[in-house]
Parts: sequence; C-alpha cells; structure tokens
Amino acid sequence: MSEKDIIESLKPICICMGIRKGTFLKHLKNGIDTLEELRKATGAGAGSCGGKRCTPRIEELLREYALKNSGSR
Ligand code: FES
Repeated sequence: MSEKDIIESLKPICICMGIRKGTFLKHLKNGIDTLEELRKATGAGAGSCGGKRCTPRIEELLREYALKNSGSR
C-alpha cells in the first residue's frame, strides 16, 4: 500500500460513527457493494445524523470503486 493509499484510507466517511474509508474499501473488496449492505456491515448511518452526511459519501465511494474496477474485469 502506498503512502497515498494509506492517507486515502484514513479519510472519514461516517463522522458520527467514526468509520474511515479503509473500512469501506475492505468490505468492497469482499464483494459487499451496495449501499444497504455497506451500511449494515460497517454500522454507518446509525449515528445521530441518521446517515445524512455519510450516505452521499458512500454512494460516491461505490461509484468510484465500480469505475476503478470496470476496466480490470
Ligand atoms: S455521518 Fe454517518 S450516521 Fe452521521
């Protein structure tokens, strides 16, 4: 993992629950690739904002991940 990847993986996604990007990436690599499943697996969306802040970030992450992998399949 490059330094850039490490910094990237430390980016907060769900602020209420303190869940970072790396946690989501781990689940994405394991094939968990829907918003609902990711929320269930990580606990994101269960914080005080009810997912208002993290849901758009998770959706962006899903798009980013799909795009990154569309070329390599
Ligand atoms: S930021 Fe995820 S529940 Fe609030």
